[in-house]
Amino acid sequence: MLTNAAESTPSEHEHEHIVIKPSVLYVGTPVALITSLNADGTTNISPMSSAWALFDRMVLGLTATSKGRENAMRERQLVLNFPSPDLWPKIEALAPTTGCNPVPAHKEKIGYRFEADKFDVSGFTPQASELVRPLRIAECPIQLEAEVVASHAPGGERPAERQEGFWIIETKAIRVHAHRDIVIPGTNHIDTSRWSPLLYVFRHYFGTGQDLGRTFKAEA
Ligand SMILES: Cc1cc2nc3c(=O)[nH]c(=O)nc-3n(C[C@H](O)[C@H](O)[C@H](O)COP(=O)(O)O)c2cc1C
Repeated sequence: MLTNAAESTPSEHEHEHIVIKPSVLYVGTPVALITSLNADGTTNISPMSSAWALFDRMVLGLTATSKGRENAMRERQLVLNFPSPDLWPKIEALAPTTGCNPVPAHKEKIGYRFEADKFDVSGFTPQASELVRPLRIAECPIQLEAEVVASHAPGGERPAERQEGFWIIETKAIRVHAHRDIVIPGTNHIDTSRWSPLLYVFRHYFGTGQDLGRTFKAEA
């Protein structure tokens, strides 16, 4: 008999899980700082963590009312800057800000404020990009210059308490920059003993722990 058959026999695990209703489902994803071009040619920074990669694509979830989403969908380009764990205080300095003026009502209610210059607020250093117009963030060890190739509206009904909605933005990486200290010399591989992402786990910041092992497809 298959071990995953519907009528599985009661096991010692039966009472280990309880049903909960968490306010978010952020089990743990890397923080990315999206830099996008404002209409006046300056660069906005949007902290985010709803991103995943497959092949040369990074797919992003951005709330409908964020400046980063508006800029990315208008300009069709952005940079994904990946910070290391030590940079979390700078990200938290950006957290209660938006490049939207006026501040959307639901954000104003919980203490967000408008900031025109997110580099100034965070203390991050702007760095010119090579293929896109938004600036990179010099302190971030991995930076992906990317083009927006598609945007999708989410399916299903929105929960009543989250009426602002979001967009699924599909981007294609067109240039990858990695700090020389995290690249294995002479290769295109990231040295995973020298790079670790900043993770966003149920609205807390974490670094990663020790290397537990590699998958069979790992190249380095
Ligand atoms: C660590 C962190 C992760 C976040 N993840 C996301 C996300 O995945 N998608 C999103 O739309 N907003 C996310 N936010 C909220 C945005 O940063 C927030 O909406 C901000 O105002 C966006 O700035 P902007 O309006 O200037 O683009 C996150 C915030 C923080 C601090």
